[in-house]
Amino acid sequence: MSDAILSFNRVSYCYPDGTAALNNCSVTIRRGTRTAVLGANGAGKTTMFLHLNGILRPTAGHVSWEKTPLDYSRATMRNLRSRVGMVFQNPDSQLFSASVQEDVSFGPMNLGLEKKIVRERVAAALAAVGMTETANKPVHNLSYGQKKRVCIAGVLAMQPEVLVLDEPMAGLDAAMQDELAAVLEQLHTSGMTIIIATHDLDFAYGWADEVIVLQSGQLLAQGAAEEILQDVKIQNELGAAPLVAEITRSLSLIGIDLRDKGYTPRTKTELLMAITAQSRQEATL
Ligand SMILES: Nc1ncnc2c1ncn2[C@@H]1O[C@H](COP(=O)(O)OP(=O)(O)OP(=O)(O)O)[C@@H](O)[C@H]1O
Ligand SMILES: [Mg+2]
Repeated sequence: MSDAILSFNRVSYCYPDGTAALNNCSVTIRRGTRTAVLGANGAGKTTMFLHLNGILRPTAGHVSWEKTPLDYSRATMRNLRSRVGMVFQNPDSQLFSASVQEDVSFGPMNLGLEKKIVRERVAAALAAVGMTETANKPVHNLSYGQKKRVCIAGVLAMQPEVLVLDEPMAGLDAAMQDELAAVLEQLHTSGMTIIIATHDLDFAYGWADEVIVLQSGQLLAQGAAEEILQDVKIQNELGAAPLVAEITRSLSLIGIDLRDKGYTPRTKTELLMAITAQSRQEATL
């Protein structure tokens, strides 16, 4: 199993108004993995993310980068923020430049990179999110989904080691969600560690290696996506189950086992392929 890149050791966080948003949470994010963070509204997902690049500092416990607890010095924070790229839940809290191009350039310019390199990174990041054509548009004229894509481009242009996205799919149309999933897949293949907060259990089941489930600021579960999301107790806590997991389970109750060499289908495509393979097998018997 790969090494811990970021970890929480008994982290609690209380907002200044007294809200206890995280309570004694210990979680590990492993380098190169895809992690989905799940939980109801107010469970603490965004609060957890704000600790990942040091915007918030635990009230108790500690956050570590590669097993070294953060000391929150200026140098540590600068280093951490160049390694951990954060895409916020609300795009309006992230965008502030006049044009799309300027906004996406801001991060890499701040890293002190040469202009030519900045231009190349900005072009590649905008292409990755399908926003090349809007490069010269004023940010305030973009639609909500377009603003989200520009935020993602701004972080990609920094080439972070860890990409943290707070509900990136919310507000995107189905085609753009598929495109974003493809971009994330490419980034994962290139070795990036990706952490996503989402309410979309179907996406989490098909995409994630690891799942973290929060409930009222407490860690309810962390583990392999297929184990955690097939657990009926956790499904009850979440108030829903991934559709593919439900269909697979229902079929197994009537004697149809879709597992192939221990592998359970996790996406709609895999489910359809497994059903087709089963029916072919039946036909040859
Ligand atoms: N700035 C703040 N001041 C006080 N309380 C806050 C603040 N931000 C969040 N909270 C509270 O902390 C708790 C956790 O909120 P958080 O935003 O982390 O939840 P979340 O899981 O991201 O929810 P959602 O799914 O709605 O985005 C909630 O009770 C929320 O009301
Ligand atoms: Mg949130």
